Amino acid sequence: MNCLVTGAAGFVGSHLCSRLLDGGNKVWGIDDLSKGKLENIEHLLTNPSFFFTVGSLADESLLFEKMQKVDIVYHMAAVVGVKQYAEDPVKTIEVNTCQTLSLLKMAWQLKKKVLFASTSEVYGKSREVPFKEEADQVYGAAGRWCYAVSKSAAEHLCLHYARQGLPLVIVRYFNVYGPKADNSAYGGVVARFIKQLLSNEPLTVHGDGSQSRCFTYIEDIVRGTVEAGSRPEAEGKILNLGSRREISILELAHVILQVSEIKGEIIFLPHSEFYGPNYEDIPRRVPDLSAAEQILGYHPRVSLEDGLQRTINWYRQKIGGSGNG
Ligand SMILES: NC(=O)c1ccc[n+]([C@@H]2O[C@H](COP(=O)([O-])OP(=O)(O)OC[C@H]3O[C@@H](n4cnc5c(N)ncnc54)[C@H](O)[C@@H]3O)[C@@H](O)[C@H]2O)c1
Repeated sequence: MNCLVTGAAGFVGSHLCSRLLDGGNKVWGIDDLSKGKLENIEHLLTNPSFFFTVGSLADESLLFEKMQKVDIVYHMAAVVGVKQYAEDPVKTIEVNTCQTLSLLKMAWQLKKKVLFASTSEVYGKSREVPFKEEADQVYGAAGRWCYAVSKSAAEHLCLHYARQGLPLVIVRYFNVYGPKADNSAYGGVVARFIKQLLSNEPLTVHGDGSQSRCFTYIEDIVRGTVEAGSRPEAEGKILNLGSRREISILELAHVILQVSEIKGEIIFLPHSEFYGPNYEDIPRRVPDLSAAEQILGYHPRVSLEDGLQRTINWYRQKIGGSGNG
């Protein structure tokens, strides 16, 4: 297959490109490098089946030109990360919703299949765990839910085109971690904890650490994504992709200390100090994986301890004892 990956130099996008190339596909990649890094795909740039362009999805002629060449678009590009979207709602909605609409219009015109990367954030603060794909999405007061709303609106647009007959699948990722994840203040908690650990800093737990998540290793996410993009049975569907192991953030900090065999300290920071006022955390985020299991044969395979070990090893190699990578 000929595939286009938007956000190809990002965390998930770069792993996805590798996997698609390993599967014998030709891959076109676009990334504006607003957050992605060339080093994430450096090893792919000499592959004769990989064609990468630095460019924005706002450049519609570029996007159109690339879309003409492919059978499927894996749409990963987005403004991602709680801190980032809290700080810049305009860009979040512009990229995640408006640029997704442009992409969908082109896909419709060119009759190209689309896989849209959505997020468990769309469930909002619903307490109906585990989250089923058809469950209610519960948001609070304006100010906190911009990312969820931007992705949920994009899902609505995707579903509209799917109903018109565009082959399309939506996957909702649950807390993905692994090598190459953003370990800055804008990144996910696993990468931030590992960076703090390797920099001999205390692991900073936001709130009291009782909030729980199901962390999913990148390899499982990418395998599920490729299955979702390949199987006709998945078209028109929304599918959760996550893991079954629910763990609190405080327990996660302890597991990271245990797996790394480094003696570290854990400290607590109020949410408001990191995210500013109006921040509301989600107490539990657990996926119902039965649809992905049934339709894709998806089973997360990498245990949390194994995935954390691999991730810590990768950061150790990349940045040595220091977290300044
Ligand atoms: N990482 C997670 O835990 C997670 C969880 C749920 C959903 N997702 C979704 O998965 C997708 C990939 O996430 P990620 O973690 O790899 O994030 P990422 O930030 O590493 O990747 C996104 C990439 O998109 C690029 N990009 C942003 N705006 C662009 C634009 N206008 N034009 C071209 N490129 C642009 C960025 O430079 C970046 O490389 C996103 O759609 C995200 O919403 C990720």
